Amino acid sequence: MRTDIAQIVRLEDYRPSDFLIDRVELDVRLHPTATRVTATLSLRPNPKGRADAPLVLDGDEVSLTSVALDGRPLPDSEFEASPQSLTITQPPRGPFTLTIETEIDPTSNTKLMGLYRSSGNYCTQCEAEGFRRITYFLDRPDVMAVYTTRIEADKDEAPVLLGNGNRIEAGEIAGTGRHYAVWHDPHPKPSYLFALVGGRLGRVGKTFRTMGGREVELAIYVEAGKESRADYALDALERSMRWDERVFGREYDLDVFNIVAVSDFNMGAMENKGLNIFNDKYVLASPETATDVDYANIEAIIAHEYFHNWSGNRVTCRDWFQLCLKEGLTVFRDQEFSSDERSRPVHRIAEVKTLRARQFLEDASPLSHPVRPTQYREINNFYTATVYEKGAEIVRMLKTIIGPEDFRRGMDLYFERCDGTAATVEDFLAAFAEVTGHDLSHFARWYAQAGTPRVTVTGTYDPAAKTYRLDFTQATPPTPGQPDKEPMAIPVALGLVSRDGEPLQAASDRVSPQGVFLLDKAADSLAFTGVTSQPVPSLFREFSAPVRTSLDLSNEELLVLLRHDSDAFNRWQATQTVAMRLLVAQAKGDAVADSDLADLASALCAFMEADALDDPAFAALVLALPSEADIAQEIGRDIDPDAIHHARKAMRRRIGQACRETLHRFRDSLAERGPYSPDAASAGRRALRNASLDLLAAADAALGEQLAVEQVDDAGNMTDRLAALGVLMTLPGDAREAALARFEERYRDEPLVLDKWFTLQAAIPEDGTLERVRRLMEHQAFAIGNPNRVRALVGSFAMLNQVRFNAKDGSGYDFLADIVLQVDELNPQLAARLLTSFSSWRMMEKTRQTHAKNALQRIAGKPNLSRDVGDIAARSLE
Ligand code: PHE
Ligand code: ZN
Repeated sequence: MRTDIAQIVRLEDYRPSDFLIDRVELDVRLHPTATRVTATLSLRPNPKGRADAPLVLDGDEVSLTSVALDGRPLPDSEFEASPQSLTITQPPRGPFTLTIETEIDPTSNTKLMGLYRSSGNYCTQCEAEGFRRITYFLDRPDVMAVYTTRIEADKDEAPVLLGNGNRIEAGEIAGTGRHYAVWHDPHPKPSYLFALVGGRLGRVGKTFRTMGGREVELAIYVEAGKESRADYALDALERSMRWDERVFGREYDLDVFNIVAVSDFNMGAMENKGLNIFNDKYVLASPETATDVDYANIEAIIAHEYFHNWSGNRVTCRDWFQLCLKEGLTVFRDQEFSSDERSRPVHRIAEVKTLRARQFLEDASPLSHPVRPTQYREINNFYTATVYEKGAEIVRMLKTIIGPEDFRRGMDLYFERCDGTAATVEDFLAAFAEVTGHDLSHFARWYAQAGTPRVTVTGTYDPAAKTYRLDFTQATPPTPGQPDKEPMAIPVALGLVSRDGEPLQAASDRVSPQGVFLLDKAADSLAFTGVTSQPVPSLFREFSAPVRTSLDLSNEELLVLLRHDSDAFNRWQATQTVAMRLLVAQAKGDAVADSDLADLASALCAFMEADALDDPAFAALVLALPSEADIAQEIGRDIDPDAIHHARKAMRRRIGQACRETLHRFRDSLAERGPYSPDAASAGRRALRNASLDLLAAADAALGEQLAVEQVDDAGNMTDRLAALGVLMTLPGDAREAALARFEERYRDEPLVLDKWFTLQAAIPEDGTLERVRRLMEHQAFAIGNPNRVRALVGSFAMLNQVRFNAKDGSGYDFLADIVLQVDELNPQLAARLLTSFSSWRMMEKTRQTHAKNALQRIAGKPNLSRDVGDIAARSLE
């Protein structure tokens, strides 16, 4: 009954709903196992829909108690009900109301979609198709209604009752121990933005005055006793609101803005109108329990969800194919916010690392799909790095091509014109086409064509004529359903750098004043005149397009960029490229000249001596070599993860040895003085100091162990403690096990901290790790139903531990397959996500491929698979 993977939803089949719902009145009487929902829907036929159509409402595991039309109870002959749908066979031709009573069981809702319980509290999750698990509805984003929600609950069980919009009424129900609150949201919204919360929660809050002078009560609700851990999130919320006013001219539009943190959540957070619900991992932070990375993530996700109020809620999506319309744009907006609040180049490097690690990986896998997919079997499987991260890159490219002023004018037009509507990617692009007069139809290919383009560039210098020419070609590899590709419109931000570090003033009429060349053909060349010495080209500055590149630059030329490029991103990229070349060659067993390794090490040491302390966060990124997964991706076929692991380990040792003195000096000079502060500059100093520890330990295990043990015990904050514990994971022995035990003892009652402890151990690249992971699944803090726990332990094993997950005997794959099947019975979304760690199985060498394929086939062949897992398994095997 659960499996129907043949049913495919197609973009081309979109048609408007036959009915519209103008108003929804909900009465929800909360009860642990029998919550009663009465929905009164004001319906009317849609003038754009089919006349004579029956009314078919969506449902999912709801049970119907009664249904009435305009107050008249409907006899069985006039409707058909199943847990999946409610059909009114002959609805009126004009406006009418439908009153539907249903009963649901939030306690046994382990899918965490619809109404469920987390640590005893009631909460909801409705995106994408969860509202239909609460009541029967036209559960599609182009049906937008004004909601009034009455929530009733036992006063002891749920003293706090929250809904969308503003609270208009509250009271007690005498003699019953129950109370209620009524919430009204004046902004029409799709059902996926509905939310309610009931529970025992602590609160922090403050008042925010908008640019228009309106007072808004901001509040964050968390587990009682943890209020102070929400202070940073509240501060981030206030800064986000201010930033959106200043940078995009967007003002908040309700009297309250509430955020609730819950412990059981499938994703990061959810932008429900006026009532964001968060995975508590992205709200709670204290210096003792959260790392610098946690603080940065909290800031980014708080901003992301807040920004959705305009890009997502005020302007929503017509259908789920348009998901990137809200997600790509909102990721772009939160990235810009973080760049402004922190360091732009450092943040850009972090973004690109994620993009490559997740989106490029996805694009090279059987799961590759366009930023706007054209079909799906299960929409939950399309909340992907491609829709989010590549979707954000498209918005960034648009801004690069048309410039910041026109970009802002286009955004203003888009918000103004589409406010209150359910829009499409075409509506978005039309706003920019209109303000610039540009034809954006070629650019629009970025939404339709999957795969990562590869751009190949060669440079030719003519000293006599003082000219320099760059020859570009581009090609995009085939992806599922798209064998042949068209050329893309690729903005190439570039400059020329001379070998002695002087910027070269070279002219080319095809480069914009902002330094951007638009490559929109399969092949093109760019000529510069007046070039007085042989230059080194600095291409794709700030990573101006999501492409892979092949450049004919020598290692020596790349290291010129490390020293002299004015673009910080490319200084970082240059070292990564050199390191990657050497790592790939070593992992493949090709000969690598010792002098090449020595040159890289000495260039890094020289850089650190000269520049590292000017920007420690940047220096820490330069010191971090490409990950094992990055190297695997670069090799692309016949991968041997063990060889990659050894090559990387050897290079880390080499750099640690070569730069030993400088690294020791950083350990001392960057030592923490004064109390912990999560700001970017302080975090940068910690990052460089901890990167130094990591390399010192790679060079000298005994010393590394001693320093790391000291730091684990003495650290004044979680960032330093966890970094040191992480270093110990590379050093087998009693000291490591003892440190792990002390850490566990100390944080026994802190699930979010124990998640870090799970993750570190799951990633240990040693033989015994699978056994260790199995043992940890028995730990008191582990829970197979909690997504954070499962991701921290099992997800990390699959995603971070290249050598053990891809063990040659297939044990890692078999383990993951077992867990996926087990989790699928409880939470299909979580199971499907775990399963995506198989996505690069075809790139492995033969033996591993065979094991992976067997594991995938075992999953695909299991009866009663969820649609989520069935879809990923089937596509992975295609
Ligand atoms: N819309 C959420 C976001 O990106 C993500 C999400 C999707 C959360 C589906 C829950 C369920 O902000
Ligand atoms: Zn989002």
